[in-house]
Amino acid sequence: MTLKKLLAASAALLVLVAGGAFAVSINDSIAERIKPFGQVCVAGDPCADVGTMPTAVASAAAGGGMRTGDAVYGQFCTACHSIGILGSPKTGDTAAWEARLAAAGSLDDLVTSAIKGVGAMPANGTCADCSREEIQAAVQHMSGL
Ligand code: HEC
Repeated sequence: MTLKKLLAASAALLVLVAGGAFAVSINDSIAERIKPFGQVCVAGDPCADVGTMPTAVASAAAGGGMRTGDAVYGQFCTACHSIGILGSPKTGDTAAWEARLAAAGSLDDLVTSAIKGVGAMPANGTCADCSREEIQAAVQHMSGL
């Protein structure tokens, strides 16, 4: 092997090594970027210590079942319905809710319209991950129906 050939070979080797290191760092940053957003906690794990969250929300977040109407209302619906923003029926305004009930037909229909969204109200009242039961519980909480 001539010296020239040897130099060329080691240069090529250098490129390979550098390229490999680059690929590794790219892989690392991709792994960092696509890692799961949240992590699943099982009751009893240290990560399941959700002491600072309100219990109703915390139990749902930990897979403990349905949030109460009170919890869903307090987190998602109160912003508009507590003061009747954009003409929304106000919390506790029985007459307004009776009229809504009569117009819709039944509590079930009211819940369906809340899920679909109605007028200026966004679908699900902004609670994207609410179940039908949770929406219904929130409707009952604020309407007394
Ligand atoms: C961004 C404001 C806003 C939020 C948040 C909101 N609503 Fe509403 N909601 C409205 C408005 C405005 C109306 C009246 C719409 C109309 O009749 O045109 C309404 C109407 C309703 C009605 C009556 C529907 C009907 O057919 O008469 C129900 C039921 C309801 N909301 C439930 C909820 C629930 C449950 C939540 C929370 C999960 C919620 N809303 C969150 C604005 C809101």
